[in-house]
Order: sequence, then structure tokens, then C-alpha cells
Amino acid sequence: MTSYRELGLVNTKDLFKKAVSGGYAIPAYNFNNMEQMQAIIQACVETKSPVILQVSAGARKYANQNILRNMARGAVEYAHELGYDIPIVLHLDHGDTFEICKDCIETGFSSVMIDGSHLPYEENVALTKRVCEFAHSQKDYVTVEGELGVLAGVEDEVSSEHSSYTEPSEVVDFVSKTKVDSLAISIGTSHGRTKFKPEQCTKDANGILIPPPLRFDILEEIEKQIPGFPIVLHGSSSVPVEYVQMIEKFGGRLADSVGIPEDQLRKAAKSAVCKINIDSDGRLAMTAIIRKVLSEQPEEFDPRKLIGPARDELKKLYAYKNQNVLGSANQA
Ligand code: G3H
Ligand code: 13P
Ligand code: ZN
Repeated sequence: MTSYRELGLVNTKDLFKKAVSGGYAIPAYNFNNMEQMQAIIQACVETKSPVILQVSAGARKYANQNILRNMARGAVEYAHELGYDIPIVLHLDHGDTFEICKDCIETGFSSVMIDGSHLPYEENVALTKRVCEFAHSQKDYVTVEGELGVLAGVEDEVSSEHSSYTEPSEVVDFVSKTKVDSLAISIGTSHGRTKFKPEQCTKDANGILIPPPLRFDILEEIEKQIPGFPIVLHGSSSVPVEYVQMIEKFGGRLADSVGIPEDQLRKAAKSAVCKINIDSDGRLAMTAIIRKVLSEQPEEFDPRKLIGPARDELKKLYAYKNQNVLGSANQA
């Protein structure tokens, strides 16, 4: 049994309170390996931003949960060594059972998501409530994110054929029955790099897909129901066209890529949305640079020369997001 405090981590409670009142969102970046962790910490230390390090089921399978939580401990020390102690949360992304959440809580995670969004409403309430009771009764309070509404999109371990927007009339009941600390909602974002079908989009003069806007009317309605309550947006990568084009230039094939425009995320971050989840953009940034190096330096075979530049690009991207999209820079 390890408490997150022993690892130097914090839960999301205070971070979300400040983010809601300050009109910004905390970045929640997924990590699966050392280079992603280093890039996230470098970016967040440089921009003095709090950060949520997220671990998905896919990450646990790929890297091993123990290694990842020790990497989070390393992240705390690394930030210190870089010269600025930022608040760091270790969060389970899309936990789908009570047992997975319990296991993470007992091994040092400071925050968990229980994703019961695919279940019938009453089952989602019961499962989320059970996780909250366990998480909140720990010696060091572990925060819990629940979800109402279903995101569209397909990702390795997170898939949903259809989306259904969050029903604002359900949120008061859900929050009060479960006692969740934050609520993920569905207002048009989705996981992965193809967030909308081409037929849902228009095209600009260069043939670039322009997505339909997020449903800010639903967000506003939710905020009216639970004023000041911490809201989370999943599936919030912007899918930068520069990375898509670079990947395609160097041999990749990423047809129909489209993400959430930065100005819409900025607008959301100014509301009660206080956690914004980003994974796909990091994947695109690293893949673009790895493909470029492989293509331009065919003699190179040292993995550090491939992954090192990709790590640098990831750091640049995340620092940019903290400063210009989420507004979390200088909030640590
Ligand atoms: O929400 C999904 C994240 O992008 C994690 O994806 O399960 O492939 O690690 P993953
Ligand atoms: P993206 O696929 O848009 O990066 O979303 C990631 C996410 O929501 C992780 O939970
Ligand atoms: Zn997600």
C-alpha cells in the first residue's frame, strides 16, 4: 500500500478549484514511456504549469503500472531538479472497473477516472459511487472523475461507435448521488485523430477539413445546473495539420484527420472546464519527427537519435498548449 503523498504527488481538489475560478484548464497528458514523461515535465516546469500525468489501460499493458507510478515519482524529482516544483497528479485514465481503480489507488495514484459512461444510468451511478466511497475514505483523499454522456471515436482501449451528448438534466442527480470530484462530459469532442466524419465538416480554400463547433449550449446548461463544479473534456487534441502533413510527406497515411480547433478549447478552458485531455496530438508530434529523421538520415540507427528529437518536439508542443490553449502557464 503506497499513498501518493509518499511519491510527492497531489490530488486534483485544489488544482481544480483554482482552475475553475481562474478561467484556465489543467493539462492532462497521457504517458506510456520515459520520453513522454520527460517532455511533459520539461514543458510544464518551463511554463510553470500544474500537470496531470494520465495512465490509460493501454499504457498499463504496454509499460507496466509499477514502472509508470515509479516514473511519476521520478517526475516529481525531475521537476525539482529542473528548478521548479510544480504540482503533479498521477491519474488513471478511463478506469472501467472498481478493481482497477482500487488497485491504482492502493499503489500510489492520486486520482482515478471511473468510466461508467457506457452503462445504463443507474449502473453508472452505483459503480461511480462505489469507487468514490473507497477513494475518499483513504488516509490521503484520492479524487475521482466520473463521466456522463458517450464520446464517439475509436482508440485502442477506448472505443465507442456512437456518441450521445451529456444530458444536463441528469448532472445534479449524478453528482449528488455519487459524490464525484469532477465530471467528464460529451459535447462533441472524441478520441483519436478523426474526430468528425468528412461529411460533418466543411473545407477551407486549401481543402483542409473544418469541423462543426462544440456544443457550448450544452456546456452552459450543465454549468447552470452545477455552478462551479469541475468539468472535464476528453478527446481534446487539435490534430495539427502541420504534423499530419509532415507524417504524410514522409510516407505516412492519415486520411480525414480533423481535431478540435484551439480557439474552442481556449473558450472551454475559460469556463468550468478545468481538465483537458490530450494524447493524440503528442502521438502525431512524435511520429512526425521520427518519420522525418528516419527519412532524412537513413544511416541513423541509434534509437536515441530518433526518439530524442521527437521528445524535443513534444516538449515544444505541450509548452505551447499550456501557454496558448489551456492557459495553465504560470499557475503552478
Ligand atoms: O483516451 C484514450 C487515450 O488516448 C489512451 O489511449 O488506450 O491507446 O493508451 P490508449
Ligand atoms: P485525444 O485522442 O483527443 O488526444 O484524447 C485523449 C483523451 O481523452 C484521453 O483520455
Ligand atoms: Zn479520454
